[in-house]
Amino acid sequence: MTIIDPDIRKAETLPSRFYTETKTFDSVTSSFGQNWHFAAHRSQLSTAQPIDNPLKEPMLLTQSEGELHCISNVCTHRGMLVCTESSEAKRLQCPYHGRVFNLDGQFRSMPEFDTVENFPTDADHLRTFPLAEWKGLLFNTVSADDFDSFIAEVEARVGWLSIEAFTHDLNRHREYTIESNWALYVDNYLEGFHIPFVHGGLHDVLDYDAYSTELFDGGVLQIGIANDGEPCFDLPEEHPDFGQNIAAYYFWLHPGLMLNFYPWGLSVNLVIPESVDKTRIVYHGFVGDSAMLAKGAGGDLDKVEAEDQFIVEGCQKGVSSVAYERGRYSPTKEAGVHHFHRILTQ
Ligand code: FES
Ligand SMILES: [Fe+2]
Repeated sequence: MTIIDPDIRKAETLPSRFYTETKTFDSVTSSFGQNWHFAAHRSQLSTAQPIDNPLKEPMLLTQSEGELHCISNVCTHRGMLVCTESSEAKRLQCPYHGRVFNLDGQFRSMPEFDTVENFPTDADHLRTFPLAEWKGLLFNTVSADDFDSFIAEVEARVGWLSIEAFTHDLNRHREYTIESNWALYVDNYLEGFHIPFVHGGLHDVLDYDAYSTELFDGGVLQIGIANDGEPCFDLPEEHPDFGQNIAAYYFWLHPGLMLNFYPWGLSVNLVIPESVDKTRIVYHGFVGDSAMLAKGAGGDLDKVEAEDQFIVEGCQKGVSSVAYERGRYSPTKEAGVHHFHRILTQ
């Protein structure tokens, strides 16, 4: 049992086996079904689409007659994936032996089953999973509850934005497979400490000393303050941050969801663990104000991403060394990393 001291001044960082041992990786990631995960924004929906997020459970997002559903993507006959790519089909047909389901998951027909007794039953429908919506953003889970408290801190800070009116921009879609444990990627995201060392371009537009980190149940908010003349949010007067030049709100929601709000819109990053030393990073971009694209902290995200990947892949090699077990935290700059490690080990 690993303990991360609640006092950051005394604490040691996560032991290296969290990043290198398959057994530890399996036990940590097996609990992901108990969390909410990002599924899609309404502007990117088809009639039926497989959900790609850190949940290992194959699921589909479907819409029929204006209703959204999150259903199992596993055929109730012999387990084939019912749908392997987005489609505008009016019904779902399993590609293996032709079993057909309605878009809400109800069994409809099956060839060569006329003489099967006691068929179909409820077990032949595709199972339904919980789906929640906040301002056009859709979230799914296997068994999490209390969506309202999951999204509460995001609502409090950026709920004033018209996120439901943002539109999906396929040009901003990215997918990377990196040779690193997923938690190293999250660690790196959770501090601005490395910005002057790793991200020269970003450092020029952000006020490093004013960069702040707030901890909450199940997540971390980092706030980037714009240097003079750089793009920032036009906050409403009643907003808690009114009067500050906010360049970016960076939310991390446990385990692998990053919601990055910039004056141009929202960049969603999904951290999808593939194995102990392999992680897929998926970027979705949703634009609210295209005039603000390519400027400020949310400008050249590809460059920042490449700089971060160089670091986390280097750390993966380093933490696998016999010479490394664990480190210490900067109390002024690494409270977010400490908070994440506390969540992982509780
Ligand atoms: S596995 Fe789907 S019809 Fe057989
Ligand atoms: Fe970074």
